[in-house]
Amino acid sequence: MEDFRQIQFGKADAQTEVEMFPNLLKEGYFDKDNLVESIIHSPLFLFLGYKGAGKTALSEHLKLSCEDVTVSLMTLTDLPYKSFGKIISGDDEVELKSKFAWRWLLLVKVLYNLYKDNEAVISDNAKLRNVIDLFSKIGIFPVTEFSNLITTTSSNRFKAEIKGFEYEHSFSRENASVSIMMLVDYLKEIILSFKEEHQQLIVIDGLDAILTSREIQYISIAALINEVKELNALFAQNNVLVKIIVLCRTDIFERLPDPNKNKIRRDCSYSFNWYIEGADNQNACGLIDIANIRCKLKYPQIDNCLQHFLPSYYKGKETVSVLLDMTRHTPRDFLQLLGFIQKQCRTGNVSEMDITRGINEYSSVYFLPEIKDEMVGYIPYQYVDSVVTLLGELHEREFYIKDIETTFISMDLGKKIGMELRELMAILYECSAVGNVYSYADGRETRLSFKYRNRNSSFNPVNKVVLHRGLWKALNVNF
Ligand SMILES: Nc1ncnc2c1ncn2[C@@H]1O[C@H](COP(=O)(O)OP(=O)(O)OP(=O)(O)O)[C@@H](O)[C@H]1O
Ligand SMILES: [Mg+2]
Repeated sequence: MEDFRQIQFGKADAQTEVEMFPNLLKEGYFDKDNLVESIIHSPLFLFLGYKGAGKTALSEHLKLSCEDVTVSLMTLTDLPYKSFGKIISGDDEVELKSKFAWRWLLLVKVLYNLYKDNEAVISDNAKLRNVIDLFSKIGIFPVTEFSNLITTTSSNRFKAEIKGFEYEHSFSRENASVSIMMLVDYLKEIILSFKEEHQQLIVIDGLDAILTSREIQYISIAALINEVKELNALFAQNNVLVKIIVLCRTDIFERLPDPNKNKIRRDCSYSFNWYIEGADNQNACGLIDIANIRCKLKYPQIDNCLQHFLPSYYKGKETVSVLLDMTRHTPRDFLQLLGFIQKQCRTGNVSEMDITRGINEYSSVYFLPEIKDEMVGYIPYQYVDSVVTLLGELHEREFYIKDIETTFISMDLGKKIGMELRELMAILYECSAVGNVYSYADGRETRLSFKYRNRNSSFNPVNKVVLHRGLWKALNVNF
């Protein structure tokens, strides 16, 4: 007898999932837009998605499933930004210095990968040997994390060593004191002379670690993206089988201070999108397919998992659309919701009561904390709870900004978080914690807008505010 509880829907994030159930990200991965195929052969290198949209899942899937491609994952957590700023000395602008610093870090990583690839051969072995000896001596090789590489490279010892190296290898003598930049050119030359048998893919993830910090780091992320673009073009032109990919949260990308942003977005980026704009029926948005694929790992004979195990209607509405409305249309939200429902099931099939209980637990144990996590970086973390209290204080799912203004003032939140109520609500709109209600047909009908549904929309302070359904239970509002 088939049992809904026996299906493994996965963990909240791809990194934990790959450790516990690697097969879920291999066989249980839904390649919605045939990304795996197009990554190598297209100019796409920037993958944008909101939290939980499947960025890390893509990188883990590539690693597990591409047999003839070497995939190495680099995460930017714990980057020592102060040291990063010291890699390139001199008076150039921060933007330029950051770009050169990334060029250096990325080329070192690329060189290391090629050097480790037994099938990659090089014509001028002596040059390579010189660099390998130097890098091994000062601890640059092996390259594991960028953070270690940054610390080593910004040290005085490193600077002294490369000065000696450049002098010895008769780079122009007058410039020998200058720079890492000469070494960068040297590395580039070596890399371009490699001949590889198979593709190398370097995936950079974890850019959101910058959210908790200052402006300069946005500059360095923008520099990283620009540099990756240039290096990929250089590799492609010279038939070097190396490609660097960047995974970035859409909201962070939108905040980057970069004039080239829109061009890069248009020409070289892919956005994870699990919502079909303008469609009432969202069955084809891709999330149901993920549930089906994971169900098939356990029960290959079942084609439509939800139809098989869940009642078609829940409180008079189509169950699937009720469940989707509880999410921000990300795989993480949706799979978590199914997991919470599973936990409530008394039998192998799902009852209406199981769904109710599952939704309740999902709302307070998962959805509210997720929304709070998203606020961090935009709102000082010690006031995130106060913001939640503010949202819940009316116990209403819909209200006007002016209805909560008095509380906002009495809590002194404006001063504490350094912004006005409208600005706060706009941030909550960006996180999809709230949406707007629009009237049309002369006020006879209403429509909701949420950031996760209408990516180009923004908060309208005049219209009614609606709390995301996933929050209703956790905030104990009337519904
Ligand atoms: N295409 C997919 N097929 C199957 N499962 C997926 C897919 N994309 C995402 N998932 C599931 O959703 C979960 C969340 O995805 P993931 O951790 O990749 O999000 P993310 O975009 O990296 O989020 P964050 O910005 O928080 O790091 C994963 O554990 C995975 O189970
Ligand atoms: Mg991730």
